[in-house]
Amino acid sequence: MDQRTHWNTIAPVYQDEIFDVFANDRKGILRKCFRKYANKQHIAFDFGCGIGKAFRFLSPAFKKVIAMDISDRCLEEAKNKEYHNLHFGLADLSDEHLSLPRVDFVFCCNVIMLPDPDKNLSMFRNIKKSLKRGGSAVIVVPSLESYLFSAWRLIDWYRHEGTQPEAIDRSELSGFSGKITDILQGIVTINEVSTKHYTEPELHTLLPRAGLRLRNLHKVEYTWDTEFSQPPAWMKEPYPWDWLMECN
Ligand SMILES: C[S@@+](CC[C@H](N)C(=O)[O-])C[C@H]1O[C@@H](n2cnc3c(N)ncnc32)[C@H](O)[C@@H]1O
Repeated sequence: MDQRTHWNTIAPVYQDEIFDVFANDRKGILRKCFRKYANKQHIAFDFGCGIGKAFRFLSPAFKKVIAMDISDRCLEEAKNKEYHNLHFGLADLSDEHLSLPRVDFVFCCNVIMLPDPDKNLSMFRNIKKSLKRGGSAVIVVPSLESYLFSAWRLIDWYRHEGTQPEAIDRSELSGFSGKITDILQGIVTINEVSTKHYTEPELHTLLPRAGLRLRNLHKVEYTWDTEFSQPPAWMKEPYPWDWLMECN
């Protein structure tokens, strides 16, 4: 299924089905980033805006917010949010020939996670192309280290309760069900969707290919109940996370 069809199907149930990064950011790193880059003279670009969960942070912080997505149904939901300074666009943001707005700040949260590495690189390049001189981008992507650590935590938890790894129901470990070459490239099956996850050294390698400089790398941390239902009280830090990159 292509991205447009996939996200159009999800749009009506997005609120309930799609993990809410903003609501689960336990250390408030996203809020800190929005405060850092806020400027009422500047234009922001919500790159792959979905149903507009970032609008409540971006709209009051910038003069104008351009919100683009590949899914017309997600955009319809996003347009229901009442902010005065939003401008919408329907586009495949992995299209290397796209004409892009020129902005001061790009926010891109869990969009560059397609199984096709060329499309992902093209999106990183499009972010760079849309930045004015001196502009900055904040990009959030899934972490492969976090995915592996969560799998280890689950196996360790079972062992703690007397179940050996071989006896764990395979449906609990279904993320790595693809080809070996997918697994080694960090393509994990999440809710039956092939989802690219990144390692830290990979990000340091990939971003320069798109002309982007990685200024700071942070974790957007979540609690364990975002991974497992009823995690034990002893399961504490380190918590699962996505990578958050500040770049320019
Ligand atoms: C997980 S959602 C994240 C939405 C939003 N950034 C947020 O954090 O709430 C991924 C979004 O990326 C959009 N998307 C995926 N591939 C895209 C592409 N090639 N061009 C534009 N948008 C895309 C989807 O339509 C979907 O709205």
